[in-house]
Amino acid sequence: MRRGGVIAVAGKGGTGKTAISALLIRELKESANSGGDGDICILAVDADADSNLPDALGISCNKSVGDIREELLEKKQRDVTLDLRTEFEGKIAEIIEEEDYFDLLVMGRPEGPGCYCPVNHILRMAIDTLAKNYDYTVIDCEAGLEHLSRRTTRDVDVIIAVVDMTLKSIKTALRLKEIASEIEVDVRRIFTIANKIPAGAEGRIRAEAKKYGIEIEDIIPFDRLIEEYDLIGKPLLDLPDSAPSVMGVKRIAKRIISINNQQAV
Ligand SMILES: Nc1ncnc2c1ncn2[C@@H]1O[C@H](COP(=O)(O)OP(=O)(O)O)[C@@H](O)[C@H]1O
Ligand SMILES: [Mg+2]
Repeated sequence: MRRGGVIAVAGKGGTGKTAISALLIRELKESANSGGDGDICILAVDADADSNLPDALGISCNKSVGDIREELLEKKQRDVTLDLRTEFEGKIAEIIEEEDYFDLLVMGRPEGPGCYCPVNHILRMAIDTLAKNYDYTVIDCEAGLEHLSRRTTRDVDVIIAVVDMTLKSIKTALRLKEIASEIEVDVRRIFTIANKIPAGAEGRIRAEAKKYGIEIEDIIPFDRLIEEYDLIGKPLLDLPDSAPSVMGVKRIAKRIISINNQQAV
C-alpha cells in the first residue's frame, strides 16, 4: 500500500467534521485490516482552533503545535542563529499523543500578532515529513479551508466536503471547491457527503445540492447515538458497529482505501 494518503475533512462548522474524522480513523483501520493490509498507523490532525477531536477520540492533549510555535518564535527572537527545524523536531514528541493505531497532533490556537512566516514554513515542512511516516493522515479542518490556503498541509489526496440539511453548508461546500482549485495544493479528489440527514430527506438534500452543481456522493444518516455520546462526553470511537453513522463512514473509508490503492499502482 502506498504510504501517506492525506484526507482533509472540511465543511461548515457543525456539519459533523469532527464526528466523521473520528469515525473515519477507526474505519480506515478496520477496513485496511479486513482487506489484508495488516496493521496500519494513522496520523490524526486536529486543525481546528476550537479543538475537539481529542474528545471524540477519547484522549486528552496537553500541548499543541501552536504552543510550540510561540516558544520557537520567542527563542528565535533571542537567538537568530537558532535552527528552527531541528528545534521543532526535537519537540515533536512533546506534542504527539500516541495511541494504539493512531497518533494525534493538535494544531491549536492560531497565530497571535507578530511575524510567524519563517516558523510556519518550518512547521509545514516538518508536518509534511511527519505525515509521510503514516499510512493515512486525517485532518479535521477548521470551518473553511484557511489552513489549506495558508499551506499548513501539503498536497491532499481527498477532501471530504461535509454538508448537512442547510443551504449554508451547501454554499460552504461550493466555496471549498473553488478554494481547492485556486490554492497551490494539489487535491486529487473532492467528494461531498451529506451528514445528519433524517430518514426520508435523502432525495431532498441531493436535489438542493444539485441546484448548486454539487453531487452528494454518500449520505450519513442522523444518528441519535452520536448526539447521545456527545451529550455525555463519551468518545465517538466507542460507538457500536451497528450505529448508522458508523456504517456510513465505513462505506466512505472503503472508497478512500480504494482510491489510495489505485494511486499506489
Ligand atoms: N450523523 C450525525 N447524527 C446526529 N448528530 C450528529 C451527526 N454528526 C454530528 N452530529 C452532531 O452535530 C454536532 C456537530 O458535530 P461536529 O462533529 O462537532 O461538527 P463540526 O466538527 O463540523 O463542527 C455535534 O453536536 C454532533 O453530536
Ligand atoms: Mg469540529
